[in-house]
Amino acid sequence: MELHAVGDPAELARSAADAVAEAVQARPDAVLLAATGNTPMGCYAELARRRFDSSRLRVAQLDEYTGVPESDARSLYGWMRRSLCEPLGIGEERIIRLRPDGDPVLACRSYDATVAAAGGIDLAILGLGPNGHLGFNEPPTDAHAPTREVALTEASLESNSHYWGDAPIPERARTAGMTLISGARRVLLLVSGAHKADILRRVMDAQPNRWLPASWLHLHPDALLIADRAALGDRARR
Ligand code: F6R
Repeated sequence: MELHAVGDPAELARSAADAVAEAVQARPDAVLLAATGNTPMGCYAELARRRFDSSRLRVAQLDEYTGVPESDARSLYGWMRRSLCEPLGIGEERIIRLRPDGDPVLACRSYDATVAAAGGIDLAILGLGPNGHLGFNEPPTDAHAPTREVALTEASLESNSHYWGDAPIPERARTAGMTLISGARRVLLLVSGAHKADILRRVMDAQPNRWLPASWLHLHPDALLIADRAALGDRARR
């Protein structure tokens, strides 16, 4: 995994937006796999500020809480639409949705089939979870884990609990599998902030293994890690 070190979150947002714009320039109907969470929000805002042709761009949802409808402000689909799709004029017909309802096996199979029919993922935009998860591929996750419904780990429940206030946080979620993520033609892993320094160091130093799902990206032929000074800690000074 190649490292691009940046100074701060603003620079991270610009670098990530450059990579997205490059992918769209190379292929105007590119399919993006888009994380929510805090980390990519600067990139999405930067993309919305730029002038580029997003009229054919398509977006696939990375993950979703089971049972949470779009009308709930905490739905990841809703968050992705508000932060990325609507500002770029990407309507529902160009969004590949991972549904929160119905039979999980059928929902995940239908999502995978729709992504495959769209030609696969051109660029995956990912954040790093506090336990090394990608999407909701929680540890342990095998390299070939399929798109599926999972039980969230304590670490994920805890780090996401502030979005839920007093309401109980859903304990299950559906996630694009490692197979789908690894099959993306290009992967961007965005990491920002001192609170990610420890997990990032562990991922960077690890041999690929199921206890740190992000470490599977070391095997990807075109994975770019964009990390800011705070997240890189000591490594930023080397
Ligand atoms: C969000 C997602 C998660 C986050 C990760 C980092 O769709 O799939 O894997 O990317 O938990 O979250 P932030 O960016 O909030 O630190």
